[in-house]
Amino acid sequence: MMSNTVNSRISGFHKMTPAERLATVQRAVGLDGASVEQLGKPGSLDLHTADHMIENVISSISIPIGIATNVKVDGRDVLVPMATEESSVVAAVCNSARQCYDSGGFITSMSGTLMIAQIQLVGVSDPKAARIRILEQRDKIEEVCNGCDPMLVRLGGGFRDLEVRVIEAEGGPMVITHIIVDTRDAMGANTVNTMAERLAPSIAEWTGGKVYLRILSNLADRRLARARATWTLDAIGGEAVRDGMISAYRFAAADPYRAATHNKGIMNGVSAIVLATGNDTRAVEAGAHSFAARSGRYTSLSTYEVDADGSLVGTLEMPMPVGLVGGATKVHPSAQAALKIMGVATASELARIIAAVGLAQNFGALKALATVGIQQGHMALHAHNVAMVVGAVGDEVQRLAKILVEKRQVRQDVAAEELARLRGEG
Ligand code: MEV
Repeated sequence: MMSNTVNSRISGFHKMTPAERLATVQRAVGLDGASVEQLGKPGSLDLHTADHMIENVISSISIPIGIATNVKVDGRDVLVPMATEESSVVAAVCNSARQCYDSGGFITSMSGTLMIAQIQLVGVSDPKAARIRILEQRDKIEEVCNGCDPMLVRLGGGFRDLEVRVIEAEGGPMVITHIIVDTRDAMGANTVNTMAERLAPSIAEWTGGKVYLRILSNLADRRLARARATWTLDAIGGEAVRDGMISAYRFAAADPYRAATHNKGIMNGVSAIVLATGNDTRAVEAGAHSFAARSGRYTSLSTYEVDADGSLVGTLEMPMPVGLVGGATKVHPSAQAALKIMGVATASELARIIAAVGLAQNFGALKALATVGIQQGHMALHAHNVAMVVGAVGDEVQRLAKILVEKRQVRQDVAAEELARLRGEG
């Protein structure tokens, strides 16, 4: 690790161009020329766009986009762009989807496109009456919410429902108002946050309390995407494989330690598409894990059962707050291209494809884990990374990776030795 004394107080940094900021960082930390050159390279996101997306931009980072093949969702074949740094993720989806392609692929559905915003009210002596006073104002609340986004209302979205809960918190009860809004093809964070902020003064006025937080909930349980698929015994290699996978699922359903990893595998697929389409990976992740813990005990997001024919049936149901309009999805040219590849016209269609891929990813992991183990497939691809890390170039990467896998020693020290030997032979 580089050790240098850095002064992080840089005046006017935010007003500089990305190139000026990079030069400033270079001077501040004594960054070497190769690193500066690397950060200065144009990626698939031009710096001008990047500079308008976030603050203090100096560069952008490229993550590989791979295409998942064999995916059929609701009878339609779709090529799915996945942005991920993890080897095996794309391959696992291709394999899992191929194994259920002939039995119908993935059947999906969506609970709706409703988002929830919360308004926190404290300091009322009569919280139960305050709750009723807020509920009495439903028409007014609807008017205020819809007034924030007339365009959304024209597109068929807008205010849908009002719920007010009294929760017991440290320091006393709080009155929590939920406004439930159909945000259609937008993820909707900006929309519902604006509505919550606009409503807050009225809520304080109607109740005599004090409003603090006004923000969406990432537990988007009114925006659930669902996927289901059937894998026949022939497709997966017999009863023993099926039963091992069922047992793997039951392990995750019963044990939070396993469920965390099981769900992480689902998110390998989910987050890769969310990222490729410029959507908010953290929002979807927060939704997934909070939904997985909704019973009070963290559990599996997916289920596996045996159907009447003896086939394996998998399901996945999870919040999927993704949009097609607004945010990086609209601004990032690669996100736009990713959406074109999938040919999706609505946020729900996108959400459903993501759920299908999440299930495929999960199937792939469980199958590997219940049979040969995860390392066999993983190491084959990981070997390419290790080969590159030790300096293999061109066709050396493939040749060296093959040697490492054959030796069953995908390690840097072995890779360096073998590369030297390869070069010696050449
Ligand atoms: C690795 O990124 C994901 C897995 O650990 C998922 C799982 O264990 O189900 C293989």
